[in-house]
Amino acid sequence: MSVVGIVPAGGSGERLGADRPKAFVLLGGRPMVEWSLDALGEVCDRVVVAVPPGHEEGEDTVVGGESRSQSVRNALAAAPEATVAVVHDAARPLVTADLVRRCVDSLGDGVDGAIAAARVSDTIKEAEGGVVTRTLDRSRLWAIQTPQAFRAEALRRALDVPAETLAAATDDAMLVEAAGGRVVVVEAPPENLKVTTRRDLELAEALLGC
Ligand code: CTP
Ligand code: MG
Repeated sequence: MSVVGIVPAGGSGERLGADRPKAFVLLGGRPMVEWSLDALGEVCDRVVVAVPPGHEEGEDTVVGGESRSQSVRNALAAAPEATVAVVHDAARPLVTADLVRRCVDSLGDGVDGAIAAARVSDTIKEAEGGVVTRTLDRSRLWAIQTPQAFRAEALRRALDVPAETLAAATDDAMLVEAAGGRVVVVEAPPENLKVTTRRDLELAEALLGC
């Protein structure tokens, strides 16, 4: 078994609005992506990072694509040896090796993907034009995060779709699901937040104690 980490870090970080791409913004004095590389490095045989053009460094970086899933596809193409691929966003620097390991370990017979997820604590409603149309059953809902571990073959097949389909995907598991794959959730700790805005960055620093 060859476990390869795939880190989409090719975004510009528009909503963060820093002077550089989000993955390279300093968090506790280190480029944000490095926190994820530490956690993945404990579990994976190799980690391939998709970066914005001009940020390539070393043999385990590739240039990202137009969309997040295109970046994942580019990175996975550089890891033909992978039998398991663990996709993890550079924007979730608080990931732990334990969570990565639990996702990988949850891939078993008949399971194509195992994805980090949090139970939903708010009540979730649908609304059209501001008017509530439906209240969903919260006990069945999960907020989906990364890491997401896949049988590499299932992920390769799922990513082999037109660029428009990749651009519309908000995670990789939905592409695997659409290809008929079976995906399970792995409950994540509440700290595994996504850094989108300046406030998230401050919160991440507070949680890391730096
Ligand atoms: N990502 C990527 N390639 C892209 C777009 C996003 O690899 N073409 C990565 C980002 O670097 C990030 C992850 O996908 O690690 C999740 O994306 P998001 O949080 O939206 O980051 P950005 O796209 O960089 O931020 P924004 O949408 O605010 O510009
Ligand atoms: Mg984005």
